[in-house]
Amino acid sequence: MTEADSFVLFSGTSHPELSKEIAKDLSIKLGDVQIEKFPDGEIGVQILENVRGKEVFILQSIAREPNLYLMELLILIDAMKRASAKSITAVMPYYGYSRQDRKEKGRVPITAKLVANLLEKAGVSRVLTMDLHADQIQGFFDVPVDNLYARVVFADKFKQMKLENPIVVSPDIGSIRLARALALDLGLDLALIDKRRVNANEVQVNALIGEIEGQDVILVDDICSTAKTLKSASDFCKKSGAKKVVVAVSHGLFDKSIIDHSSIDSLFVTNSIPLPKDCDMKNIHVVSIAKLFANAIDSIARAKSISSLCRSL
Ligand code: R5P
Repeated sequence: MTEADSFVLFSGTSHPELSKEIAKDLSIKLGDVQIEKFPDGEIGVQILENVRGKEVFILQSIAREPNLYLMELLILIDAMKRASAKSITAVMPYYGYSRQDRKEKGRVPITAKLVANLLEKAGVSRVLTMDLHADQIQGFFDVPVDNLYARVVFADKFKQMKLENPIVVSPDIGSIRLARALALDLGLDLALIDKRRVNANEVQVNALIGEIEGQDVILVDDICSTAKTLKSASDFCKKSGAKKVVVAVSHGLFDKSIIDHSSIDSLFVTNSIPLPKDCDMKNIHVVSIAKLFANAIDSIARAKSISSLCRSL
């Protein structure tokens, strides 16, 4: 068996474009699998090639229709396990259900842990993901979790941009680690916004810790859903004297409200999740993570270190 034959990448139905891009970067063909829905809505899967003794990678982002894609991933893993794959890596550019990662109040679930339990029970041997909402989610698993960082691709972009006296700003406490790491990579200072979420649809900005007067701001967040966090942060930065606000978002869930960008001058987002069909592309720039994931998959398959891609700083 040659090295190229020893692993195979399959695609779930959540993000076939990214799967194809990664396969192209790896110079391989995607694995052959049939995924269909039975008349009652159940998912049926058949692997159409031999995977016995092979290292299998399955790409699935748990977004847009998270319940469907999670179930589909579990079924694919089960099929690979029963077809005697040597190992099964769930490649999850976006790990859905990650924001419910602790009991913040009484009588709520910890869905990030529930998803980990389900994946392990189905038979996953490893998870490859990017910018987990909380690094600790790695500890919800008893199998290896490789957490890549989108800032690797963002840092390259921002280095090429002509920003004036730029500073990195975290829009809330939760994103401080991502923001600090990007600031370190770019050799920039860091400021922080004190945000409070009033409810799912409303956020309140209380203060800005740091000085940004007359500077260009790079706002960094892991997720953009309703865009309330980023819009409020951007407005506050502009009120505090920022000249330009550019945004780096790892995972663009993008509710419709993103169409009105408010004071955000431009927004960079990875393709961990496909953009919604009705997304207004003005000012939105998609940065591909295909090469990052292809390098990680190649390194895992060849048992090489990927810590340079997983540095959290
Ligand atoms: C919060 O903890 C996350 O890091 C994001 O800031 C949040 O999910 C963004 O949500 P929205 O776009 O709805 O404000």
